[in-house]
Amino acid sequence: MDSFDLVITNGICVTAGDIAPYDIAIKDEKIVLLAPSGSLADANATRIIDAERGYVTPGGVDCHVHLQEPAMFGKGTSSDTYETGTRSAIAGGCTTIVGFAPQQKTEPSLLAALAATHLRARGNSYCDYGLHLLVGNPSPQALSELAALRDTEGVTSLKIYMTYAALQLRDDQILSVLLAARGHRILTMIHAENGDVLTWLTSQLEAASLFAPKYHATSRPPILEAEATNRAIALSSLIANTPILLVHVSDPGATLRIRAAQTAGQPIFAETCPQYLFLTRDDMDGPGFEGAKCVCSPPPRDKESQEAIWTGLRNGTFTILSSDHCPFDYDDGESGKKTCITEDFPVGRFKEIPNGIPGIETRLPMVFSSSSEGRLSLTKFVEVTSTNPAKLYGLYPKKGSLIAGVSDADVVIWYPEGKDRKGLDMTITNGMLHHATDYTPFEGRKVGNWPRWTVLRGRVVWDRDGGGVVGEKGYGEFVKRGITSYMLEFS
Ligand SMILES: *[C@@H]1O[C@H](CO)[C@@H](O)[C@H](O)[C@H]1NC(C)=O
Ligand SMILES: *[C@@H]1O[C@H](CO)[C@@H](O)[C@H](O)[C@H]1NC(C)=O
Repeated sequence: MDSFDLVITNGICVTAGDIAPYDIAIKDEKIVLLAPSGSLADANATRIIDAERGYVTPGGVDCHVHLQEPAMFGKGTSSDTYETGTRSAIAGGCTTIVGFAPQQKTEPSLLAALAATHLRARGNSYCDYGLHLLVGNPSPQALSELAALRDTEGVTSLKIYMTYAALQLRDDQILSVLLAARGHRILTMIHAENGDVLTWLTSQLEAASLFAPKYHATSRPPILEAEATNRAIALSSLIANTPILLVHVSDPGATLRIRAAQTAGQPIFAETCPQYLFLTRDDMDGPGFEGAKCVCSPPPRDKESQEAIWTGLRNGTFTILSSDHCPFDYDDGESGKKTCITEDFPVGRFKEIPNGIPGIETRLPMVFSSSSEGRLSLTKFVEVTSTNPAKLYGLYPKKGSLIAGVSDADVVIWYPEGKDRKGLDMTITNGMLHHATDYTPFEGRKVGNWPRWTVLRGRVVWDRDGGGVVGEKGYGEFVKRGITSYMLEFS
């Protein structure tokens, strides 16, 4: 009889395609066999895990994660390192992330920016990781490096910004990036908000002495996002329909434009995030400075917008659901949210609040729990949190699926219904999370399930009932990515 490293028996496997009871056998870091349920219960394996009819899903793939980036927007610096951020990832069922290698406006080279990020990440990660290049300066040198990025470095996606003084590109610069990216079949991610308009609105609000965190939302009304989204789609069409991915979409108006472009056959992809499904702008209106805990861009919108984003997730307008984990400590006046509090500004100054929230660990449990409430089917959950991100960013089918002989053995095993789940239905508190950030914007929310075990390339790295984080820093590997699956037929 064959011997295996690990067998998961008696689970209900969920992929983007179907739900069925299979046993899974794992050897040499790969899934090697799917077999009828129970048939591998006595297999010759180093370890056998009885899933007790809990769901078994492919490891989560989170392709929008900011960790340990140099401060580019003022005083805030990331409260998570590669070590603490990826530790948090595995405890929440996420086995692969794609982070960012930021190139500053003053740097000519993308390859140098990538090398600097490798130094921060290498040997420090609990989960597997890839990197996107964040392009601040699309110089001729930078654009000439795309071939090397793709062919040598395994970096097949870029991110650009239509806002933030430190990173905002003009439309002509965006066109140059899209043209170069198209030539190398590299996917461009776009942060679509109109930076000039929000700077103008911000100065109007400050002139009226409106400084509290909640005015962050006022300074970035939905139309700024819809306008920039529309412009990004138009610019892509001008460069012979270059594929783009609109990151962290929050606004129904932007969603409509994306849907219309998709219906017309343009290769437009879109991402949304838990903050647009679970938070609203009211969460930025807490007592004192508390609202700063939910300040991110675009800002959370209203209840109706939330519903529209859920609908877009169900109906396929959104290709992927990522965390946009971008953490800053709350109670920290040196490098966190409170850097903007001074004697003159006792409730801070919204324009200087570091933008971003933590969420790498809560993404999967919160969205999975919504499935049992009927908000999203389980297959759709797997599709938008694992399979599609893997396809979009050139990681599929190594990541994002459970294909025998092909996929890495990256697996999440959830608690079965009715099982004593140690505190489930449970309430999220920051104390139970594994990031290094001093708060979670989801404090007090109920979830109905949580990853019981997380397996990364055949090794159990998270065992909720048996030690918590049992993986090791440095086990996570850099993954060189291929061309996006959606572009393989694209010329
Ligand atoms: C299990 O596999 C190991 C390694 O291949 C082998 O030495 C052992 O004899 C096998 N045991 C059984 C009961 O098949
Ligand atoms: C899909 O959802 C989006 C966002 O709510 C909506 O604008 C669009 O009309 C929906 N499309 C279909 C075909 O249901």
